[in-house]
Order: sequence, then structure tokens, then C-alpha cells
Amino acid sequence: TPSLGTLRVRSNGALGVDLSSGRIIGVADRESRETPATELVTRWIGQSVDGSAVQTTDLSDDQFLMPGLIDTHTHAPQFTYLGLGHDLPLMDWLEKYTFKHESQFQDTNLARSFYNSAIARVIRNGVTFAAYYGTIHLQSNVILADTIRNAGQRAFVGKVCMDAHSPSYYCETTLQSLEHTEEFVNAVLGHGRADDANVLVKPIITPRFVPTCSKQCLEGLGKLAQKYALPVQSHLCENPDEISFSMQCFPDRTSYSDIYRHAGLFGPRTIMAHCVHMTDNDIELVRQNGVGISHCPNSNFSLSSGIADVRRFIAEGIPVGLGTDVGGGYAPSILDAMRMAAAANRALIASRRDAGAPGGNDRPIDANELLFMATQGGAHVMGMGDQLGSMDTGKLFDALVVDLNVRNSPVPSSSNTLAVHEQLQTNLEQAWRLRAEQFVFLADDRNITRVYVAGKLIHSL
Ligand code: GUN
Ligand code: FE
Repeated sequence: TPSLGTLRVRSNGALGVDLSSGRIIGVADRESRETPATELVTRWIGQSVDGSAVQTTDLSDDQFLMPGLIDTHTHAPQFTYLGLGHDLPLMDWLEKYTFKHESQFQDTNLARSFYNSAIARVIRNGVTFAAYYGTIHLQSNVILADTIRNAGQRAFVGKVCMDAHSPSYYCETTLQSLEHTEEFVNAVLGHGRADDANVLVKPIITPRFVPTCSKQCLEGLGKLAQKYALPVQSHLCENPDEISFSMQCFPDRTSYSDIYRHAGLFGPRTIMAHCVHMTDNDIELVRQNGVGISHCPNSNFSLSSGIADVRRFIAEGIPVGLGTDVGGGYAPSILDAMRMAAAANRALIASRRDAGAPGGNDRPIDANELLFMATQGGAHVMGMGDQLGSMDTGKLFDALVVDLNVRNSPVPSSSNTLAVHEQLQTNLEQAWRLRAEQFVFLADDRNITRVYVAGKLIHSL
């Protein structure tokens, strides 16, 4: 999806990757006007003469290559209670489940075994790049970052900060929160640099959200983000009780967003999750500061938070990506997030239509737009739009091989989908457009048969 709403299909194409840099060195259709695919392949194979071995892989008629899926918001420790407590609203759910489960990650052995299986599950779902929250614990967060690096996934990993209004068993002092964040940043960065695209796992500054952070903590984190040129992630305007408590804590600020902005946490490398109940001032500050929004529809439905107005964000020019928000959301799958985003958008349009309100005639978000949010949109939100998110020469090869003809495939074969079958007789490209739409609404991890990050195969079925 080179731009929002467009889908570029290359049938009978070829794509080359330089395995040392992990970047795409050429991509073409069989009939490309510039350089046809056959010529590119011949050229690449010719290069093996000067010593570098060329590996080739063919895809079958039921397989295609696409950019890796990007999860712009998830909580690694929350896989421990996946699917539980969705009858509760946010603040009660945090008290009853989240804080109790996260506090157990004090235990580094638990972290080691638990994070291993959680990360494998995320990768199996085709997520090549994710923004993770850990817990408040320094050592277990370092284990999380190591686990991701060893698995070969690209990620931002955040040490969660909470020094206020938190239960005594899961709370830090302000000093601890800031010192442990800086130690974590140095441990993860090692000798790498925060702006080096070749470094897979990077730290991200992570105040949990306004209700659990003091003014000193937020401001200290703002300074650290600036000192190390790091991205920032947090939660924004998710739930009415959360918002009113936040405004009560910071009565001088004009909006929830203004609290983060004032602390130096609002910039082009900031990812804000949810954004369900935004005032005009919130939207204006998000837009002005180049903040990206992580749309987490599964979580917003499951915790009765509400529906984010994605069409409005897009119209305002705000970057929007998708997030699973495990375990507020119960599905660690960006395919699920695409469908839930579609459902959320339909529900918003229908309720506005029925109320005779503006937006009631908006065009529903289509499959191509959902694919964009899951790839390029996510890359923009993560501050790597120029490096990731599409199959273009020069970009990093974070990609999936999708196979629509696996055993028990939830996507029916072409011959069982009359509309696709008819197109196949005449127009291969048009048939693939329909297949892509079916992929968005029907596929699951059985169809994701290979996952590559920076040219390296990290998962295969
Ligand atoms: N707000 C603060 N912490 C959390 C969390 O863990 N999940 C969600 N969905 N919202 C939050
Ligand atoms: Fe969250």
C-alpha cells in the first residue's frame, strides 16, 4: 500500500534482498517498463560470479509476499491473563488483573520462560515490529529485550514507570523510576545508537499513563527522551474515569494531551494509544506535535472504552497505526486489529447515521486502508516510515510470505470463491486484489508461512 487507500499488486514479479544489509535492492513485475523481473533476476544471479552466493526462492500461485505487520501497542506481561476480565472497565480491570499479574515479573525466572513463549506467539502472527510495554522491573525488562533480540524481531521495549496512585505491591519511588529507566536505556542500547535502523531492539520511554505518574516523574522522563533521542509511548484518553482523574491531578493543564506535552513527552517520536475520548484541544496538540496514534479497537471494544474516530485523525493528517493492546485486547494479531478497526468504524458510522449526526455518511474504511494502517501507517507512527512498511527499493526487508492454500485454510481456495475464480480467467492482478481483501478479513496465523526481519527468516511453517 504505497499510500492510504491504494494497493500495489505485482503479479509474476521478483524482489531482491541484500542479505548483508537486510534491504530491498530491486523489485519489479514481469513486464515492468523500467526493468522487467526476469532481467533483474538474471542480473542478481550474474552477481554471484563475484563470490557472493545468490539464494533464490520461488512462490507458488497461492502465495504472496507483503510487508510485515506492525503492532504499535502491546504489553508483553499481559499474555499471562489473556481473555480474562473483559466485563470490567479500564480502572477496575487494572486493579483486579493487570497490576497483580505484572507485579509477579519481579521474578526473573518467570520473566525468562514467560516472555519466550509470548514473543514466539507474536512473531507467529506475522508481527515483524512491535512496541512493547514490560513491567516496572529493571532486570525482567532487560530479559524481555534480550528475548526479542534473540528471536530476531524488531521492537521498541519500554520499562513501565509508575510512582503515584499505584498499589503498594506495584509502585516505585520517583527516583527509582527515573534511575531504572536510564539504566534500562543504557543496557538495551549497549553500543548501538537510538537512530540506527540496523539495531533491531531499542528502548522507548514509557510512563504508564498520567494517573500513575507524578509531575516529577513525567518531567524526568521527558528529559531522558531528549537526552537519548528516544521514542515515547503511553496511553491517552482511553476511558472517561481515567481522563477525569488525570485532569484532577493536573488542574492547570488544558487537556490530557497538554499534560504530556508540558512534560516534554509530546513529539514526532511519540506513540499514544487509544485516543478514544479526544477533545478538540487534544487533537490539535497531537497534530501540532507530530504525535502518532495507535488505534487499539479490540481493547476499546473489550473494556467498553469506546470508539476512536480514525477517519478524523486521518483527515487531520495524524499518522495512525494499529495496536493489539494485549491484554486489554484479547488477540495478539494485527489481522484481528484490522477487522476490529473495520467493525469500530462501521459502528461509529451507523450510530451517527441513526442519530442524524455529522459523519453518518462517511465512506467505510476499506481493506486497502486497513492494510496501510497495519504496515506503512504503523511504520510512520513508530518514526520509521522511510525505512519500513512497503516493498520499495532501499527499504528494510521486513516481510511475510502468505499462503492461502494451507491445510484447513480459513481463506477459501480461488475455485471456491466465484468472484476470484471469474477474475482469474481474465485478469490476474484483479484476482489478487480480491485475494488481498479476503486475506484481511479471513486469514490467520496458519496462512503466515514465513516471517522475515531485515532479510533474515525468523519463523516458518
Ligand atoms: N492504561 C494504563 N495501563 C494500561 C494497560 O495496561 N492497558 C490498557 N489498555 N490501558 C492502560
Ligand atoms: Fe495498553
